[in-house]
Amino acid sequence: MTPRYFRTSGHLLVCGGATCQQKGSPLLYKALWNALETQSLAYYKKGGSVRLTQSGCLGACGSGPAVCAYRTRPEGGLEEGWYAAVDFPLALRLARTMHEGQPLPGEHRYGPEQ
Ligand code: FES
Repeated sequence: MTPRYFRTSGHLLVCGGATCQQKGSPLLYKALWNALETQSLAYYKKGGSVRLTQSGCLGACGSGPAVCAYRTRPEGGLEEGWYAAVDFPLALRLARTMHEGQPLPGEHRYGPEQ
């Protein structure tokens, strides 16, 4: 059987490392999945396009929950956004901007220049 491939607008990684778990990342991950499903943003929903995965440590342990967003730029190459102290509204906004192809939010960002 050939695996089914889903085209996506981007991928969100919510840190599941120990420190971020203490700062609420499991609840953030669950709440975000619920929102992606109910709002048809999840890649496997009709019209949806966003992937979501729980990751290992993203290197911002003291400022969790940390989230990484990445997607392919229209002109090619990978765009990445690294976020610290992410709450549910920011996580959902990240998902929406990826789904709609809008610029990634600037607040709570760390890491490489945008
Ligand atoms: S435990 Fe989440 S960034 Fe390290």
